[in-house]
Amino acid sequence: MPVEPRLLEVIRLGHPVLRSVAEPVPEEWFSSGRLEELGRNLIRTMLVEEGVGLAAPQVAEELRLFAYWLPAHRGEAEIEPTIVVNPEIRIVDSVLEEGWEGCLSIPGLRGLVPRARRIKIRGRTVDGGALSLTADGFHARVIQHEYDHLDGVVFLDRMTSAQSLTFEEEWQRYGVTDSELDDDD
Ligand code: NI
Repeated sequence: MPVEPRLLEVIRLGHPVLRSVAEPVPEEWFSSGRLEELGRNLIRTMLVEEGVGLAAPQVAEELRLFAYWLPAHRGEAEIEPTIVVNPEIRIVDSVLEEGWEGCLSIPGLRGLVPRARRIKIRGRTVDGGALSLTADGFHARVIQHEYDHLDGVVFLDRMTSAQSLTFEEEWQRYGVTDSELDDDD
């Protein structure tokens, strides 16, 4: 019987792992069950903490993988929780769009972050299979945010100005939100 996924502790800004460059997942992990377990725990933690993404370094695992999902939004279908291992990102459309971001490791804050509009991501699944997809808009934003965690980069580093930085409560109260989802990456 499969083991119930565990809830992992999400580390916060100040923990040195959030500022480290993570290591590629070694080949032998793909067939060990260890990676599958970590993937399932990441997904469970992401969903319970109400995030749309969670990278392994955010649970103090210095490995290059992350979980993400996208709830159905404005006529777009849900993207089911997905684990991407050892990803590589290529920017397809370098036009930058600003959008609101939050982060489970920086709880309570929101800020406007410019991100490339369209990207291509290649990586592996937990089984070692090939994964390749093109993402745009919010989907591309979430992937870029999670990918950054693998290099020790957080959304605050990507903001062009701190002026939009807002506490979540005020963000909701003063209606600074317009189109994006109210979720942490
Ligand atoms: Ni984050």
